[in-house]
Order: sequence, then C-alpha cells, then structure tokens
Amino acid sequence: MLEVKLNLEKSKVTTEEILKYKESVEKYHNELKERALDNNDYVGWLELPTNYSKLEFTRIKQAAKRISEDSDVLLVIGIGGSYLGARAVIEALTSSFDNMLQERKHPYILYAGNNLSPNYINELVEAIGNKDFSINVISKSGTTTEPAIAFRIFREMLESKYGIEEARSRIYVTTDEKKGALKKLAEQEGYEQFVIPDNIGGRFSVLTAVGLLPIATSGIDIDKLMEGARLAQVRYNDSDLKYNECYKYAVARNILYKSNKTTEILVNYEPKMHYFTEWWKQLYGESEGKDKKGIFPAGVDFTTDLHSMGQYIQDGRRDLFETVLRIENPETNIKINADDDNLDGLNYLAGKDLDYVNKKAMEGTIQAHVTGDVPNILISIEKLDEETIGHLVYFFEKACAISGMILGVNPFNQPGVEEYKKNMFKLLEKPGY
Ligand code: PA5
Repeated sequence: MLEVKLNLEKSKVTTEEILKYKESVEKYHNELKERALDNNDYVGWLELPTNYSKLEFTRIKQAAKRISEDSDVLLVIGIGGSYLGARAVIEALTSSFDNMLQERKHPYILYAGNNLSPNYINELVEAIGNKDFSINVISKSGTTTEPAIAFRIFREMLESKYGIEEARSRIYVTTDEKKGALKKLAEQEGYEQFVIPDNIGGRFSVLTAVGLLPIATSGIDIDKLMEGARLAQVRYNDSDLKYNECYKYAVARNILYKSNKTTEILVNYEPKMHYFTEWWKQLYGESEGKDKKGIFPAGVDFTTDLHSMGQYIQDGRRDLFETVLRIENPETNIKINADDDNLDGLNYLAGKDLDYVNKKAMEGTIQAHVTGDVPNILISIEKLDEETIGHLVYFFEKACAISGMILGVNPFNQPGVEEYKKNMFKLLEKPGY
C-alpha cells in the first residue's frame, strides 16, 4: 500500500506530548480548509491534486511530447520554487547519470537562471553547443532578475540558431495568468503559455505546470505523480491528529523546536534524493523562517556526508534533530561477491547485498546520533516511483503549512527575500531604487 510511514520511537517525543496539540491542530486544519476557498490566499495547493485544469494538463503532455521530438535539451529557466520542485522529482526518478546516457528517449534537462555566475552560463552555452534545444522559462512574478537575465541570453541564442519564427515555437512560458513582465513578453511574442495559479506560491507549485512540464519532458509519468498526491490529499485530510501522520510530523518538529532543537537535518541514504532535500529546505526555510522564529532546515546525503558533517552531528552543538528518509526497497541492488584472496578484508560481507550494508549504516548511524542526543524522526517510503514521490511532496507541503501555523507564522509569504533585492537594485542603479 502506498504510504509514508512515520516512526517517532527515537525522536524523544511521546504520543502523550503530541496529543496535547489535538485541539489546536484541528483548528489549523479547519482554518487551512477555509483559506483554500479564498482565491486571494496561497492555499490552492491543498486541493490541487483533485482540482486542476485538465485542459492545461493535456497541453503540458502535448508540449512535453513536442519538446521530446524536436529537442535534445530542455533548458529550464527559473529560481527557487520555480525550479527546485521539478529538479527534485526529476533527479529522484531518473538515473543519476541521466545526462551522460547516449541512447536517449527524452531530452537532457538542464537548468539556468538560478544563479548569476558568468562561468555557469558560458559553460552551459558550450554544453548545449549544436544540440537542438527548447526553453521553458518559469517565473510567477515574471520579474525575477536571475531568470530574466538567463532568458534574455538564451532567447538570443535560440533566435540566432533558429531565426525568430522557429525560436518562438521553442519557447514555453510558465507565469502568472494576467500580470508581470514575462506575461507581457509572452503575449507580445506569441509564446505558448502555462499558468501558475494565483493562489499557489512558488515553493508549493511543483504539481502545477511549474514542475509538470519539465517533469513530463524528462519522461516521468505525471498522471501517476498526481495520483500519488491525490491519495495523500485524501489520507492527510483527517482533522484528528491521532490518525494523521502528516500532522504528527508537524507537531513533533515543533515540540523538538521548543526543547531547543532548533535545526532539523533531512537525511537521505540515496544520492538521487539530494535535490528533494534542496526542495524541502526551501519549502520549510521560506515558510517558517520569519518573525525571528523557525527551525533551520539543513540537509545531508549519507553515507557521503558522514565523512564530512558526521563529526559535527555526533559531537557538535546539541541543537539538532534529524529526519531520516528511508527507502525500503531500492530499484536495483548489487550482490557482494567472495574473493579468494580477501586482501581488502571484505569477505565477511560476501553474499550480502549493497542495500543491506546501506541499511546497516543507517541503523548504526541513527543509534549513534540518538545516543549523542540528536533525536531522530524516521520517515519510510516503500520505493522511489512517481506515486510515492507525488505522495511525499504533498505530505511535506501539508506538514509544512500546519507546522508553520503551530509556530505562529504565516507559512505562505516571504517578506524577507525582498531585502537583498532592494539593496542589489540600488547598487545596480535600477531606475526607481
Ligand atoms: O517560493 C517562492 O515564492 C520563491 O522561492 C519563488 O519561487 C522564487 O523567488 C522565484 O520567484 P518567481 O517565480 O516569481 O521568479
């Protein structure tokens, strides 16, 4: 059965402590449902898996097919919530070496507009070289500097390669339905457009066209992704905390925060989940870090980072807790063979498989960290596939909303990110600043 299993045994949080939040969680549950009805609020993601435009969904699949037929590369231009969700899902569900595979059924997915490094852009131009490519530029506001600059550069490249007419048919714009510079440009140039609904903020938008077009182009089944999210929408709709694992996670992290565990580290033992962690960091960091409050969301890839961050986690400041993502069954496995000479001393593992070793590393690490006063929350999924990832995305989105409400912040705004922009525009002498 498709589910996210939450295990709080090693979290140092008791069921009794959790259930003290029963009434307040019920209140936030109802508040969230009410806010979802308000088109001027940012809670449209709550019912998105059952309430999305089927027409646009079909157009997304058609566009993905067209891109796969005419392009070797899809360049996804966007930053923050306008690219992290797509990248998280694509990397979780495709080969770690996807961009090196020569025999291809789907275009390479490359990313731009998420930094201001000239090296990055020049190297990307070189990597695209003579390959056929299309662009999906994604910006809800339509005015964000990083993607706007990247789009200007790559649009020029596309137009000089194909001419203005053909370039036009290779540009896909995902933006606001009515406003913003990108919307205006798309209208004027006649680019194909997809909409980021008004009532869904960037970091909650992965299951809209923002994520779905790049994800579909990479060959991932977006019907299954949405189905996983739909099942999560149904499962985590129970207002009773006692039966809602998603809400229990939200409460447990708040209880830990109150006991001065102010940093949460999301831990994976699967490198494919690296960008999922980046997406999760943005979701929780931007939603909760305000009013001088909020758990600091960090992430590690184990066992890799056990050899870099492991020391700190075991023995540094004791303000940490971990949330470990456990994948029960890897897609593939490797058996460790016996060796006659056994010079590397590994014959004690002969006959075992690599996932068994990975799991033992996980168990040993959890034991060590819990002993070292780092509480562990364990979240298990059965496998990495479309349904499960869709389910997990929804699980974390809803937990984030409830968690932020328990914390006493508005999880859906991000006033803090404007500060750096004001300074930067002033320094760049942008008119009006
Ligand atoms: O979650 C958010 O709202 C932000 O991270 C945005 O996604 C990010 O700043 C990009 O904004 P935009 O899509 O307007 O270019």
